[in-house]
Amino acid sequence: MSKKVAIIGAGPSGLAQLRAFKSAKDKGADVPEVVCFEKQSDWGGLWNYSWRTGLDESGEIAHSSMYRYLWSNGPKEALEFADYYFEEHFDHPIASYPPREVLFDYIQGRVKKAGVREQIQFNTAVRDVSFCEDTKKFTVRVHDLVEDKAYSEEFDYVIVASGHFTTPNVPEYEGFSHFNGRILHAHDFRDALEFKDKDLLIVGSSYSAEDIGSQCYKYGAKSITSSYRSAPMGFKWPDNWEEKPGIVKVEGNTVHFIDGTTKKVDAIILCTGYQHHFPFLPDSLRLKTKNILYPLDLYKGVVWEKNPQLMYLGMQDQWYTFNMFDAQAWYARDVILGRVELPSFDLMQKHTKEWHELELADPSVAYAYKFQGDYIQMLVDETDYPNFDIEGMRLTFLDWKNNKKENIMTFRDKSHKSLMTGTQSPAHHTPWLEALDDSLEAYLRIKKRKTSA
Ligand SMILES: Cc1cc2nc3c(=O)[nH]c(=O)nc-3n(C[C@H](O)[C@H](O)[C@H](O)COP(=O)(O)OP(=O)(O)OC[C@H]3O[C@@H](n4cnc5c(N)ncnc54)[C@H](O)[C@@H]3O)c2cc1C
Ligand SMILES: NC(=O)c1ccc[n+]([C@@H]2O[C@H](COP(=O)([O-])OP(=O)(O)OC[C@H]3O[C@@H](n4cnc5c(N)ncnc54)[C@H](OP(=O)(O)O)[C@@H]3O)[C@@H](O)[C@H]2O)c1
Repeated sequence: MSKKVAIIGAGPSGLAQLRAFKSAKDKGADVPEVVCFEKQSDWGGLWNYSWRTGLDESGEIAHSSMYRYLWSNGPKEALEFADYYFEEHFDHPIASYPPREVLFDYIQGRVKKAGVREQIQFNTAVRDVSFCEDTKKFTVRVHDLVEDKAYSEEFDYVIVASGHFTTPNVPEYEGFSHFNGRILHAHDFRDALEFKDKDLLIVGSSYSAEDIGSQCYKYGAKSITSSYRSAPMGFKWPDNWEEKPGIVKVEGNTVHFIDGTTKKVDAIILCTGYQHHFPFLPDSLRLKTKNILYPLDLYKGVVWEKNPQLMYLGMQDQWYTFNMFDAQAWYARDVILGRVELPSFDLMQKHTKEWHELELADPSVAYAYKFQGDYIQMLVDETDYPNFDIEGMRLTFLDWKNNKKENIMTFRDKSHKSLMTGTQSPAHHTPWLEALDDSLEAYLRIKKRKTSA
């Protein structure tokens, strides 16, 4: 095949795309030349932890929003690859909520085995993508950050897999500029020990708020106050954690809430979400959406309707992650290989609008699990990605939700069953609240080993 495909980003989504093409090639398909541009020096996207905040060593925006001591916030059984199981990677069953380093190891295991690393141009940031209507080709302009050299290459397809949890959404409240302490966004949060013995305000009521607050509690914050805009998280919090409604203003170190109460705090962490941000794309190719399950303009959540030679992976809000990125990558691959025929622009738009409206039919999370599961099934049904027990995963999510409701500080001690192998995970050797060392070695109780790329 003489076609050329550019992938932007070698996080879990971009890696899924490389794996998808490799899988077709292994089965004898004629596949295009694929080049993946990754601005960091290693793969893994957000899972490639860095202590750096602000700018990285090349002066690029530090990509990762992950922090020390991060453990999976959902059961690993709900994100397992359908073509590379945890048991295959670790040689034995492991517990259900691994720390970041363990999941990073798992993500890498599959792509090392597939041998796709040579297709990635590391330290190469994509600066600009344009499309020529005459030649029907994209020109991708990149910057080699090591050689400090810019160059352009032409491609028939571009796949945007650059993630959407890096550019922070940063609100400002009256008095922030005179606050006598640190104000940071979750994107720049790295080590909970920084907030040991401190009174902390967390703004937001979603996953970052829940998890960063829990981390800070675990590592010794004096008190946690979390402020919600729409609705409280509503868990049974420890005694030194209280939920408050929105902020009115901050005076010195005192925060005023809309219920008339106040609280003196030492630091404020804005867990206020992220923005989809694609500075390398022109208006005509740029996805504009909030963090939702079914964005408009993307047919089957993947294909840019106005120009189906452009595709996006992983742009949805994410209950399902790794296996959803796979389903999308296999679908994108099959569009490129001509195995999937796309309908007309009008029909694509109509289909997307129907699903978009379906998402809005019910705001409950239980509905969201089902909705995103149905979406994945739709993609899996059209490709040769191994069918997996999505209904079983939905039930696992419900179980997870109930465990959190029961006790937000112990849900990670629970065990779930793999929907791929049927194996019930063993309980972890140490309760999450007491497990202060999040290294792979501590988690797996093995001797320190050298990790190589
Ligand atoms: C704090 C946090 C914790 C999370 N925890 C979990 C969890 O426990 N379990 C789970 O399943 N999911 C979790 N997620 C969800 C996460 O989004 C996915 O797991 C996954 O990382 C998304 O993969 P991605 O490849 O789409 O994006 P990313 O992981 O963001 O990777 C995108 C890649 O694109 C590269 N890139 C970006 N712009 C350019 C450019 N211009 N040129 C070249 N390269 C570029 C980046 O360097 C990066 O490597 C978490 C997210 C956050 C923010
Ligand atoms: N350990 C882990 O695995 C882990 C940890 C952290 C995050 N994550 C992942 O990271 C992703 C992002 O999660 P997130 O919580 O950062 O983002 P998010 O889910 O998009 O939530 C954003 C939160 O910010 C609030 N908010 C937005 N603007 C605000 C404003 N102006 N004032 C006050 N509040 C405001 C929102 O309130 P409204 O409800 O009013 O909109 C919402 O509560 C998720 O996929 C999550 O699973 C995982």
